Amino acid sequence: SDEKSAMKARIKTLLKQRNAVLVAHYYTSGDLQELAEETGGCVSDSLEMARFGTEQSAETLVVCGVRFMGETAKILNPEKQVLMPDLNATCSLDEGCPAEEFTRFCDQHPDHTVVVYANTSAKVKARADWVVTSGIALPIIKHLAERGEKIIWAPDKHLGRYVQKQTGADMLFWNGSCVVHEEFKSVALERIRRLHPDAAVLVHPESPEEVIAQADVVGSTTALIKAVTDMDNQTFIVATDGGIFHKMKQLAPGKKLIEAPTAGEGATCESCAHCPWMGMNALQNLEQVLLTGNNEIHIDPEIREQAVKSIQKMLDFSS
Ligand code: 13P
Ligand code: SF4
Repeated sequence: SDEKSAMKARIKTLLKQRNAVLVAHYYTSGDLQELAEETGGCVSDSLEMARFGTEQSAETLVVCGVRFMGETAKILNPEKQVLMPDLNATCSLDEGCPAEEFTRFCDQHPDHTVVVYANTSAKVKARADWVVTSGIALPIIKHLAERGEKIIWAPDKHLGRYVQKQTGADMLFWNGSCVVHEEFKSVALERIRRLHPDAAVLVHPESPEEVIAQADVVGSTTALIKAVTDMDNQTFIVATDGGIFHKMKQLAPGKKLIEAPTAGEGATCESCAHCPWMGMNALQNLEQVLLTGNNEIHIDPEIREQAVKSIQKMLDFSS
């Protein structure tokens, strides 16, 4: 609409005025993803979002995603201002892993290397030896297992089990999960696969084990998008947040994309896999933070000093 275009134009001007760059996750709205791309920002998975921020000369990073993504950006770029459209955009994995409780768990197993998923608070990252994202969890755990290290893994139990199965690593799990991916149903997925025998099944590893077991490709959001363009299949069944379809459709307009079911057999479900916290990012609140400079991320310097080490190890490992 005209109103939307006008708002986008105002946001572009404000980004220039603030010397700010937009960093958006694939689960945010198509409008935000397009705006990020049109203004020299980035749309990506959480690993590339972290890396992109460090390569910018802009004074301000505006992170459209969830809180841990803004915190990671600030930890890696303490000299930059990091803003977010809504600071209440959390993540069930982060919420399910409180720092004090997690620290006690780690203290009970001092001979274990502590590996945490990026979807955690700065304090939890500060307690960890390594931070990983879904895009790099497998090679890092493989590396640690080859060195004979015993591992504490937190918080996502599904991703943890998947990585353990692939690597044979000795791992202790925290009991966390993603409320969005946990909803994918394996029996209903089997039914849909029978209806589309030529479809490739793409699954984010935060999904339950029985769903992952049916996948042709398991990977981060970036890896799943790449599969749609790289594979010869014309049909894909996709088990992750529906926000990912924006980029998939853009890159492979001729292909048929089917949402994996989040309801039981027989039920139909449209657009129910959507992270409520990712959904808090919108053009309106983005414009507001650019106008006001509100919603700035701050990290305690002592926490930052510890957390940056475990994040930097991940970036160094992958580069
Ligand atoms: P990616 O690192 O694959 O983008 O995943 C982040 C996330 O929050 C998935 O739910
Ligand atoms: Fe967290 Fe799941 Fe939302 Fe990703 S989709 S931000 S893991 S709640």
